[in-house]
Amino acid sequence: MARETVAVHAGREDCTAIGVHVPPLDQSSTYPLPSVDAGGAAYERMATGGRPEPADSFVYQRLWNPNVDRFERALARLEDAEEGVAFASGMAAITACLVATVAAGRPHVVAIRPLYGGTDHLLATGLVGTSVTWATPDEVAAAIRPDTGLVIVETPANPSLDLVDLRAVVAAAGSVPVLVDNTFATPILQQPLHLGATLSVHSATKFLGGHGDLLGGVVATNEEWAVRLRQVRALTGGLLAPTSAYQLHRGLQTLPVRVRAQQETAQVVASWLDRQYDVARVAYPGLPGGDPRGLVGTQMAGPGSILAIVLEGGYASAAAFAESCRLITHAVSLGGVDTLIQHAAALTHRPVAPEARPNAGLLRLSVGLEHPADLIADLDGALRAARAATPRSEPHDDAPAAASAAQDAPRELEAVR
Ligand SMILES: Cc1ncc(COP(=O)(O)O)c(C=O)c1O
Repeated sequence: MARETVAVHAGREDCTAIGVHVPPLDQSSTYPLPSVDAGGAAYERMATGGRPEPADSFVYQRLWNPNVDRFERALARLEDAEEGVAFASGMAAITACLVATVAAGRPHVVAIRPLYGGTDHLLATGLVGTSVTWATPDEVAAAIRPDTGLVIVETPANPSLDLVDLRAVVAAAGSVPVLVDNTFATPILQQPLHLGATLSVHSATKFLGGHGDLLGGVVATNEEWAVRLRQVRALTGGLLAPTSAYQLHRGLQTLPVRVRAQQETAQVVASWLDRQYDVARVAYPGLPGGDPRGLVGTQMAGPGSILAIVLEGGYASAAAFAESCRLITHAVSLGGVDTLIQHAAALTHRPVAPEARPNAGLLRLSVGLEHPADLIADLDGALRAARAATPRSEPHDDAPAAASAAQDAPRELEAVR
């Protein structure tokens, strides 16, 4: 079945049989036990990472929840994975992968920067017993040690929008499992397990939920890793909340449509920004030069809807720009139906070591479902405010293009209608 069909129906296969059109929400924190023996056996199965058997009580919500299970099965279908394991947040999902690696006696991690600031921070502190070697994609093979348990990579990367060649990273990692943070791409644009990765991780808070109203994380992987991750989850208590699982499962139904529509708008917005003289650089894989390895169309089905801009005026200019957006919300997070802008170095990437911190003039923009004309009008106003905050003495050669950009926008918009 096509991905669009899977998104709508996966995890709902039993609904007709149980007489409902949408999955019921089960918020039980505990479950009746048919007998002491049966309850104990079910507990044992789930606390060691197994699934309940058909006649089992679910025992306790930290071990199992039917809405979480439905969301996991749907996500696994979209990722073409054997299993999905869902957590209370993206960071809880990444933490579980690290704990499982440490527990298996392989605490060393090779990580390719840039990563989301929280992931970078967790690795840099070694809080859960890992040690890290930072590597470029070309340095991965040399960085692998006998105790290396994971290679971690993010593509598109947060916030640089660099695309990393996953097939090359998997080849360099050899027998070491590769964890890909697939949050920016979603399974609609990229399926890392098809490219040889072992774990595809999401901050489900972002595109999977899509409406900015929940926190969640999920790992798509093979059966062996799923058992290990479920054990970590059961013992450390990182289960996704049932209400969030319900919303996430519903969110998946519109994921393909949202991802495509947001991407279409992002392409228009990125092209417009690219022509503004005081935007020094637009990082977006859909622009000429934005995908030097030619990975859009081979590794990724499209460039996505996140972009970054670097303003000529540096920090002062970027701060004025973010604070002057009116329709676009100045806030962290991404992947929702409304457009958000944030200053990466001051917020999401604040804990990152200075040598790996993003440019002070960089703003990350997550493009939503608004009409591109309205977004461009808001961005135009913010650019004017940024110009006023940091007056330029010497306009670039392409200054006239900037002046006519607002007039050009309607013609571009016609192309996407
Ligand atoms: C790429 C990426 N990975 C992981 C995370 C962490 O996810 P969460 O905030 O759901 O814990 C984020 C959050 O912004 C992210 O952008």
